Amino acid sequence: MERVQCKSRRIIEERITLSRREYGAKSSSRPTEKHPITVTITNNSASPWATSIEQIAELYKSEYTGAVTTRTSLLEGFAEDPSVHQYIYHNGASAATNTAINTDPKDPSTSGASTLNTLGYSPFTLSEYLGHINEIVGQRHLGTSITTTKKPFILSVTGTADEIAMAYALIANAAEMDEDLRLCMEVNLSCPNIHGLPPPAYDPTQLAEYLEAISDSKATYRGRMTTPDSVPRVGIKLPPYTYTTQFETVVAKLLAAKSSEPGEGSTIDFVTCTNTLGSSLILNDDLKPAVNSEAGTGIGGLAGAALHPLALGNVATIRRLLDQHEDTKNILVIGVGGVEDHAGVQRMQSVGAGAVGCASALGRFGVNVFKIMSGA
Ligand SMILES: Cc1cc2nc3c(=O)[nH]c(=O)nc-3n(C[C@H](O)[C@H](O)[C@H](O)COP(=O)(O)O)c2cc1C
Repeated sequence: MERVQCKSRRIIEERITLSRREYGAKSSSRPTEKHPITVTITNNSASPWATSIEQIAELYKSEYTGAVTTRTSLLEGFAEDPSVHQYIYHNGASAATNTAINTDPKDPSTSGASTLNTLGYSPFTLSEYLGHINEIVGQRHLGTSITTTKKPFILSVTGTADEIAMAYALIANAAEMDEDLRLCMEVNLSCPNIHGLPPPAYDPTQLAEYLEAISDSKATYRGRMTTPDSVPRVGIKLPPYTYTTQFETVVAKLLAAKSSEPGEGSTIDFVTCTNTLGSSLILNDDLKPAVNSEAGTGIGGLAGAALHPLALGNVATIRRLLDQHEDTKNILVIGVGGVEDHAGVQRMQSVGAGAVGCASALGRFGVNVFKIMSGA
C-alpha cells in the first residue's frame, strides 16, 4: 500500500528534476530516514501576485517554481474594494508617508522587506481558476509546450466547511477530466482580515469540522481518479501560533482526522506555515495608519522579513510535533514567512520544511525571486 509519506511528496518529486538543478549539490535539506526527501522545491504562497491568468502562467513557466499556488478563492468570488483592501511595503516599524498603497516596489533594494495587508480574497472564483489552469496546461497539449512536466497547482480556497467539501468536488472533477493535471487544495483557515470572521484555525471546534468535511469529500471522490497520482492532495494553511498548546491542539486534530484509506494516516497531506500575523499595525511618519481596512482601523496581517523568526519557529514546532506520531509524521510542511533568498530557504529546510514558499518577496522581486531562492 502506498504510504501517505509518499503521497504529497511524490506529487512534488515529479517536479524535482528542475529542483535538483536548483538545489543539487548545494541542498541543505535533511536526508534522514524520517524525511527521505533530499531535495526541496520552492513555490509562491497565495497572494495578489497570483491572481490573474497571466501571473499564474508566468509562475508556471518559471523553471524555478516547483508548484504554483493561486490566490485564495471562494466558490462565489470576493467583492474586492481597493479603498479598504490594501497592502503596503514597510521597514518593519513604519512606512514613509508617501509610500504607495497596493503598488509593488519599483526598486527592491530601497523598498522595505516587510508587508502589511488588509486584503480579503481573490475576485476570481474557484471555477475560474480551474479554467485558467486548463488554459495554461492546455497549451502543452496543443504542442505549444510551456513545459512537459506535471507541475502541481495548489488551489487556495476558503469558505464554510460545506463549501470546502464542494470546492474539493470541483477540483476532483477537474483532475478526473485530465489525468495529467496535478491539483492540490490548500484550505486557507487563517486569513486575519475578514471583519467578524476570526481565522478558523485558531478555533479547535471549527478546525475539526473542516477536517471532517475534507475527509468525507476525499473519500467520496478518491475512487473516481484514473491514477492514484491524480487524487488531489489537501493541505491546510495555518496562522502563526504563539504558544505550545495551540500547536498540540492542531496536531491532535490532524491525528483525529484519519484518512478513509486503510493504512494511511491523517487525511491531510500538507500544512502550510504560516499565514500573516493578524492584529498588526503600521503607521506612517505622520502617525496615521499606513493602510485602510474593512474595520477602518488599518490593522491587518504582517508578513515578509518581520514575520520570518515567528514563521521559522512555527515550522520547527509543528514539524517536531508531527514527527511524534505515525499518522502525522508524513505530512509535508511548506515553510512560508519572510523567505526572500537562498539563505532563507536553507533556514526553513533546516527546521523541517519540505518545501518553501514566499509571497512578499514575490511582489518585491517578481518571479525572479525563485531563481534567487534557488541559489543559482
Ligand atoms: C499582500 C498579501 C496578500 C495575501 N493574500 C493571501 C491569500 O489570499 N491567501 C493566503 O492563504 N495567504 C495570503 N497571504 C499570506 C501569504 O501567502 C504568506 O503566507 C505570508 O505573507 C507569509 O509569507 P511572506 O512573508 O513570504 O509574505 C497574503 C500575503 C500578502 C503579503
